[in-house]
Formats: sequence, structure tokens, C-alpha cells
Amino acid sequence: MSAPIIDLKDITVTFKNKTSTVHAVKNVSLQVAKGDVYGIVGYSGAGKSTLVRTINYLQVPTSGTATVNGQVMGQLSKNALRLARRKIGMIFQHFNLMNSRTIAANIDYPLRYSDLNTAQRQKKVADLLTLVGLQDKADAYPAQLSGGQKQRVGIARALANDPGILLCDEATSALDPKTTQEILGLLKHLNQTLGITIVLITHEMAAVKAVCQHVAVMEQGEIIERGSLLDIFSQPQQPLTKDFINTAAQLDVALAEVRKQPAVVNLADNARLLHLTYVGASTDAPLIASLYQQYGVTANILYGSVEFLQDTPVGNLIVILSGDPAQFPEAFADLRGQGVTVTELDPKGTVVA
Ligand SMILES: Nc1ncnc2c1ncn2[C@@H]1O[C@H](COP(=O)(O)OP(=O)(O)O)[C@@H](O)[C@H]1O
Ligand SMILES: [Mg+2]
Repeated sequence: MSAPIIDLKDITVTFKNKTSTVHAVKNVSLQVAKGDVYGIVGYSGAGKSTLVRTINYLQVPTSGTATVNGQVMGQLSKNALRLARRKIGMIFQHFNLMNSRTIAANIDYPLRYSDLNTAQRQKKVADLLTLVGLQDKADAYPAQLSGGQKQRVGIARALANDPGILLCDEATSALDPKTTQEILGLLKHLNQTLGITIVLITHEMAAVKAVCQHVAVMEQGEIIERGSLLDIFSQPQQPLTKDFINTAAQLDVALAEVRKQPAVVNLADNARLLHLTYVGASTDAPLIASLYQQYGVTANILYGSVEFLQDTPVGNLIVILSGDPAQFPEAFADLRGQGVTVTELDPKGTVVA
């Protein structure tokens, strides 16, 4: 692989004041390849914004190195840093538009130091408006736009200087689900057509699922798990990661319903409640047929879903398997051998990993 476009090495950010010390980011290393869409997910306070702000050096790390576009950010002169930052666009949860200026003027603002002449700037702004689907809003003011439209303006403004990188800090968190999907779709389109590298930080795994190719999970200033989207979704290791995924797939909702069913409430001694996850074409029917043929284990499917992650099907089943308990270990091992992630669930509540 060629050198990553973003290379954070051993980044630590500590905030100190008279009374307290906050370890916002603890020794995090992160590499993002050119053209990737990289999601960083975590709850509020995990350190996501602080980490991402070290990429454009809005946040100077307490220690560690940020190398972006081949430049070590901490070694740049003030002027070189300003130029480097222009190649790193950023969008925010609350859009940060200038309310007293028109949409066109908002988008033009980052071009104030560019080499373009007036006519070129006007064309650039018009092109950007078209790119984000707001051709007819040039003379409108932010207050006249919906949240989704405001974020489109934010995106157009962020792209004004043709950055190779776009940092998105909770960019869809103030939007309703439908608008969120539209904005995520636009980001994906920009990634695919312009090749722009995107780092998307969010507390919603559903946003990550919609667009990201890789994902890192942050907790208390650290990256606790990372990998390709498919690996993370099919084989999450950390409880927090599982939490995020189950919420995104609404498995938590399904599970709550499943746990009310009599077959689960009165789960027989010869039965187990399981969550099965599989990726790709290893579909449920042959799997379950072979369980019966080989181990005399029958399956009662209580819930099933298939969703597509980057065009690859990922299946989730909640099942009760019944049979001779002595056969269970081998039957489960067989499933795992076929690439199915098998998690035994406590019928009464918490997950048994
Ligand atoms: N400028 C700052 N001064 C002091 N503490 C800060 C500052 N910025 C962030 N923090 C603290 O650092 C931790 C991580 O914050 P942040 O990076 O904003 O997390 P996230 O984006 O994941 O919600 C939090 O405890 C937050 O209160
Ligand atoms: Mg944040």
C-alpha cells in the first residue's frame, strides 16, 4: 500500500487547567489510506473530535506526530500550515454558516486568499452549488434553508479549495434520519467521483454503516477496535462495538421483543437462544438443514434480517436451537467453521458472549 494520506502516530492530547487534567486522547495511532472513507465511532466524550482536530492541527497534540499529505504538521511554518489546512476540508454538526451572508458568499469565503480572479471565483461557487444540488439557492440566506440544505452549503464551502481530505465531525447528528441518509449519500458520491478521502466521526453506527469502508471504535481516549466495515460488523470483539452494531441494526429492539416470547421466557433445558451473524452467501437455509442432519439440532428462527454493507449481504438471525445438549459444542463449532459468528444469548437479558 502506498503511504497513507493521514498518518497519526502515538497521538496524545491532555487538557490541563488549575483544577483538573483530562486525557482526551491517549497514544492513538491511525492510518487512513487515500480514497478511503474512515468512520470513527464512539459515545460523547470519547475523544473523537479532539483526535480528528489533530489531523488539521486545529488541535496541537501534547505528543505524537500527525503526517498529512506527506507533511509533518508539527514541523510546518505558520504559513505552510495555513496552506496545508486548505487541503483539509471540515464540516460540523451545527454547520457554522455566517447567517448575515448569502449562500454564495458563504461558499466563496474560503476562496478569499486563493489565486482565482473574480470571474473564476464566481464560476467555482456556481460549480460547488451545483455539486451539492443547491443551484437555485445562491442568493438565499442560511435562515431560509433546511438543516440538510445548510449542511450541503457546509460541504460546498469545505470543498472550495479542492481539498483531498474531508473531515466530518457529527455532520449528520442534527439531521432527521431521511436527511441524514441524503447527506451520507452525497458524501459517498463525493468520495466516489472526486476520490476525496473522508474521515467521518459520529456516535451513530448507522451512519458509519451507510458509507464507511473502515471503522475505528473509540472509548475513553483510545481506539479499542478497528477494521474493515465487514469485519467489524461480522465479528465485533469488544462489548462496546457490539452495542453500537446492535443498535444500528435495531437488533436490540428485536431482541427485546424476542425475549417476551413464551418459547424464550420458558426456554427448555435442551434449548439455547443464539444470535447468528454471517457475511456473504452462506445463507441460513443450508446451514440450518445441516445442523439437523449432522447433529439432530433443530432451529426455530425468531428473527431474521439481511442488510447490505457495501453490496455484501450481512445476515442476522436470532434462533432457538433444540436438541441433545451434548451435541451443542460441536454444532456451534461447525457453524463457526462456516464463518458464522455464534453468540449465546441469556434469555433473560444480558448477552452471554
Ligand atoms: N478544549 C478543551 N479543554 C478541556 N477539555 C476538553 C477540551 N476539548 C475537549 N475536552 C474534553 O476531552 C474529552 C474528549 O472530548 P471530545 O474530543 O470532544 O470527545 P467527543 O468528540 O468524542 O465527544 C472530554 O472529556 C472533553 O470534555
Ligand atoms: Mg465531538
